[in-house]
Amino acid sequence: MAHGHETTRIPGFYRLSLTERRAVVLAKTGTDLAALDHGGLDLATADGMIENVVGTYALPFALAPNFRIDGCDHFVPMVVEEPSVVAAAANAARMVRAGGGFTTEHDAPVMIAQVQLLDVADPDAACARLAAAEPEILALCAAAAPRIVERGGGPRNVTSRVLSRPTDPDGGMVVVHLHVDCRDAMGANLVNGVAETVAASLARIAGSGARVGLRILSNLAENRLVRVRARVPAAALADALHTDGLAVRDGIVAASRFAELDPFRAATHNKGIMNGVDAVLVATGNDWRGVEAGAHAYAARSGRYAPLAIWRAEGGDLHGELAMPMAVGTVGGAIQVHPGAQLAIKLAGAHSARVLAALAGAAGLASNLAALRALATDGIQRGHMSLHARAVARGVGAAGPLLDRVAVAIAAEGDVRPERARAVLDELLAAELKSRQSSLT
Ligand code: MEV
Repeated sequence: MAHGHETTRIPGFYRLSLTERRAVVLAKTGTDLAALDHGGLDLATADGMIENVVGTYALPFALAPNFRIDGCDHFVPMVVEEPSVVAAAANAARMVRAGGGFTTEHDAPVMIAQVQLLDVADPDAACARLAAAEPEILALCAAAAPRIVERGGGPRNVTSRVLSRPTDPDGGMVVVHLHVDCRDAMGANLVNGVAETVAASLARIAGSGARVGLRILSNLAENRLVRVRARVPAAALADALHTDGLAVRDGIVAASRFAELDPFRAATHNKGIMNGVDAVLVATGNDWRGVEAGAHAYAARSGRYAPLAIWRAEGGDLHGELAMPMAVGTVGGAIQVHPGAQLAIKLAGAHSARVLAALAGAAGLASNLAALRALATDGIQRGHMSLHARAVARGVGAAGPLLDRVAVAIAAEGDVRPERARAVLDELLAAELKSRQSSLT
């Protein structure tokens, strides 16, 4: 269920203990998170998922609050090993919220299956025959996947291209694209099955001696884009240290232009986007390698590697837009068997692949905004330092209000060793004890 009217704007969520956070989530969503105690996956289930299993491997599972997407509030589930990714996304989502939240658009969930035809004597004639036979090919594809047709999906259209000619070293090669609407499934198994079933018929229809080569999906899911937009009022970009929101906005725009002009920067800019996207995909049991491959192929589609999201000044606001292929599912594959992934999808309020794609895209754009804001102001180390300081302070036993005070003190000193954290904690505890004693006398 979408959390809808229940707000996920929760100031200080990060300051709560794990138990308190679970209680807040239970109150807001009715979902008990105890299933995550053991990584959301028992050994027997794990043993059935892949080969040669000898155990399971857990990563932190977090929820990013503050996300408002297409008018609904969501908790964004994120599984990631890197500190500051979740905090950054939640922070940026809070800024975007001030401008009304994220808005998204999604193409129909159409995947491409490729069938390679080799030794084609007359590739142009083969393509013409394939085009003329599109209704027949669509019927063959539909017969190969009746269940998805029942659910309103199925084959949509067929295209073909000549990749090389008989006189070229590779000989006559044609590729056929079968475009299949996969509804709420990512669709890999579905379209691979369709391609394998109809490939021999495609070779027969193409004629010209065509023989079947590979039959496999393309991760460059260019028909399955998600577009996410965010508008942030300049004032929401300011904080106590950076009071000029317009200057912060202009710094973020200059950072975007840097990525647009330079592929070296674009790669890191996109890595920041994938910090958010991948964390959502891992949490929800999706194939993040497939989305990664599609993202980078899409980023390079003009022949020059480009950023997946760009930022511009519009009036007093900052406007950001992300577009990337997002082949994700809420049914099928690992999701069907992994209780943790099922829980994540439920918590996210992702009742369809479309909503999940919107969430992953919004997490990507939020991560990008947070990274650019940090880079254009303090640099990335300051934020990392204060999060690291919290972890160190917690490690030496600081809790409650003292946790913040120890973390702030050691981060400000630039000395975040546990020894220093313990010394600061001892000093604060001693001071507290003294003031309590003096108030008694
Ligand atoms: C670190 O995980 C991600 C960043 O490098 C992204 C960026 O540079 O935009 C901070």
